[in-house]
Amino acid sequence: MEIIRTVKGLAETADAMRRAGKSIGLVPTMGALHAGHKSLVDRARRENDVVIVSVFVNPTQFNNPDDLRTYPRTEEADCALLEACGVDYAFVPTPAEVYPEPDTRVFDLGPVAEVMEGAMRPGHFNGVAQIVSKLFAWAMPTRAYFGEKDFQQIAVIRRMVELEGFDLEIVPCPIVREDDGLALSSRNVRLSAEARSIAPQIHRILADSVDLKAQGYEAEEVERMVTDAINNIDGLEAEYYQIVDARTMQPVKKWAEAGDLGAAGCVTVYCGGVRLIDNIRY
Ligand code: PAF
Repeated sequence: MEIIRTVKGLAETADAMRRAGKSIGLVPTMGALHAGHKSLVDRARRENDVVIVSVFVNPTQFNNPDDLRTYPRTEEADCALLEACGVDYAFVPTPAEVYPEPDTRVFDLGPVAEVMEGAMRPGHFNGVAQIVSKLFAWAMPTRAYFGEKDFQQIAVIRRMVELEGFDLEIVPCPIVREDDGLALSSRNVRLSAEARSIAPQIHRILADSVDLKAQGYEAEEVERMVTDAINNIDGLEAEYYQIVDARTMQPVKKWAEAGDLGAAGCVTVYCGGVRLIDNIRY
């Protein structure tokens, strides 16, 4: 595996691969890689001639400076994992390389970016659109892989792709969970032993809520029941739990309002001071 540190190096390498007729799979990451990332990389490996993984903690998507400062950075271990997965190129740039000058672009992301994470973390999705659009422009991949744990992010990226006219396939990949149901996240390492023991309740409550739908409860009722169930557990505090149309991210009160992709329940929970996100499909 070759480690590329410059934008020029990435663009030239990807260009040479395309000219040679090879398909390129890109997996954008912020490092601190775990089995969830590995599942994206493995899938990219199966589906493409060349696999590029970016490892970059993108400052423009953090609206909390402490979160950016304390975000786990484990470059050596990340590169070892990527090498073992058979990745061809790791793109590991510095912030100055990616942003030689401030990125002032404001994307018209529309309603998909206005709710949930968009409402709670102003500017977050614009920062995601900035970095992902740069990566797409430099690598011009055939396919790009994103985890469904960040469910709303995928809808936002699809919107950015539409706005910018990128010709590529976005490949959403299923959430990978610990045996006890906790969704894998780079933030899990911040959980204290006590918080870690409580955190799996989030998925348990979401999974149980699928039965509530089967029992005939409407979406707005399930939304209330799930929110209460989370907040009734000592050590968990829901920032939001929203049932939305899985394509448009707009809230649905009745199941019948959801379109072709059905509904998704998206949650953000504080667990021992750590902000965890998860979701479930209905
Ligand atoms: O999901 C992430 O890890 C990040 O938001 C992404 C897509 C790599 C952009 O920095």
